[in-house]
Amino acid sequence: MNKNGRYERLHKQISELIPKGKHSISAMATISSVLYHKMEYFFWCGFYFVDNDELKVGPYQGPVACQILEKDKGVCWAGINQNKSILVPDVHAFPGHIACDSRSQSEVVIPVRNAEGIAVAVLDIDSDKKDVFDKTDVEWLEKIISLIEPIQL
Ligand code: SME
Repeated sequence: MNKNGRYERLHKQISELIPKGKHSISAMATISSVLYHKMEYFFWCGFYFVDNDELKVGPYQGPVACQILEKDKGVCWAGINQNKSILVPDVHAFPGHIACDSRSQSEVVIPVRNAEGIAVAVLDIDSDKKDVFDKTDVEWLEKIISLIEPIQL
């Protein structure tokens, strides 16, 4: 699998699909759809937003997910609190991991920042295969997310 080539095409496609200017929820919907349908190892792909003390699910593709993630628990909150991407090769080895679907095996979370640089949402991707995400995924997903930053929610 040539990840670099595939991500390069996806990055181009997404940048052409989302309008220029301020980005919000509609751009997130487009990103989750393109990624989910083009990357066969993505089992779930979508966004969670900070809303008061909770993370609430936003646009996503894949099996039904948790609506709300309890504060400071799990991989998505780690991405928000650390304001950095989190790569989890084996979700069962991540303390506090929240399993919305028992088939999930590995996960990657990318923060989405507002104009102040604060992480106000995350892109969350799950796979049903262990250890499938690597540095290449993180680098390209960060590049794709930077297309919609700063986000206005
Ligand atoms: N596993 C995530 C919860 C969201 S689902 O994967 C869709 C977490 O631990 O934050």
